[in-house]
Amino acid sequence: MFSFQLLSALASAALLVSAAPAPKDNCCDTSAAKMDLPGNQTQLVAPTTAPLFVAIGVGVQNYTCSASTLKYTSTGAVASLFDISCIDKTPAFATIQTTAFKAWSALSAGISATTIGSKIGAPGLLGYHYFVPSPTGAGISPKWDFTSTGKLAGNSTAFVIGSKVGDITAPTNSATNVDWLALNNLQGSLASKIFRIDTVGGQPPTSCVAGSADISVKYTAKYYLY
Ligand SMILES: *[C@@H]1O[C@H](CO)[C@@H](O)[C@H](O)[C@H]1NC(C)=O
Ligand SMILES: *[C@@H]1O[C@H](CO)[C@@H](O)[C@H](O)[C@H]1NC(C)=O
Ligand SMILES: *[C@@H]1O[C@H](CO)[C@@H](O)[C@H](O)[C@H]1NC(C)=O
Repeated sequence: MFSFQLLSALASAALLVSAAPAPKDNCCDTSAAKMDLPGNQTQLVAPTTAPLFVAIGVGVQNYTCSASTLKYTSTGAVASLFDISCIDKTPAFATIQTTAFKAWSALSAGISATTIGSKIGAPGLLGYHYFVPSPTGAGISPKWDFTSTGKLAGNSTAFVIGSKVGDITAPTNSATNVDWLALNNLQGSLASKIFRIDTVGGQPPTSCVAGSADISVKYTAKYYLY
């Protein structure tokens, strides 16, 4: 089976790989991309460098009913992250989170968010956002994981686990839209800072009755990774 032809094919493949340019981390140039943050706050401070990734997150925020407070408390989230760096300078960009939320809300329960990108003009799936046991040993921490899909697939360090350092209520409709957040890197080499802004949906009902089932509330948001 180990023929000269096979060896020589492998050698050419290796040459092709080594001659290929280094993979780009995102599909378009992000050097001019900027977050639009409210001016009347100091919790979320835009870095002076350009973002590495600009993504739309489409997924759910999960909650459980606290028997002591009869309020829903967060148990994490799961989202698919699509590259929106290529539409950054188009009119669609400002409202992509609303466009995505409408498309996501229209999908029947049980249908995965991974197909939304192609419906909203952002087909490039960069990776996934979900929660993992915290590296600190206490509770759970959010992770952005680009190791299995997109340009960084196969790169085992292409993730970041974050720790929240800033939080403001959504500037519009904060009863339905989850907070805007700033997080710093706790682990991983994908990014040193993560921001969640331009949120749509994701907030739980204001109260629950004892014994209520866990719920998942659909949301979208822009994520900027620096
Ligand atoms: C959140 O809920 C979804 C189902 O809606 C589930 O697939 C996912 O594993 C849950 N994640 C967490 C962290 O609770
Ligand atoms: C900050 O500005 C936003 C509008 O950008 C406004 O909705 C919000 O109420 C303001 N918050 C405070 C604390 O002034
Ligand atoms: C893997 O991904 C990380 C994060 O983007 C990057 O810093 C690193 O250079 C990549 N490694 C390789 C071998 O491409």
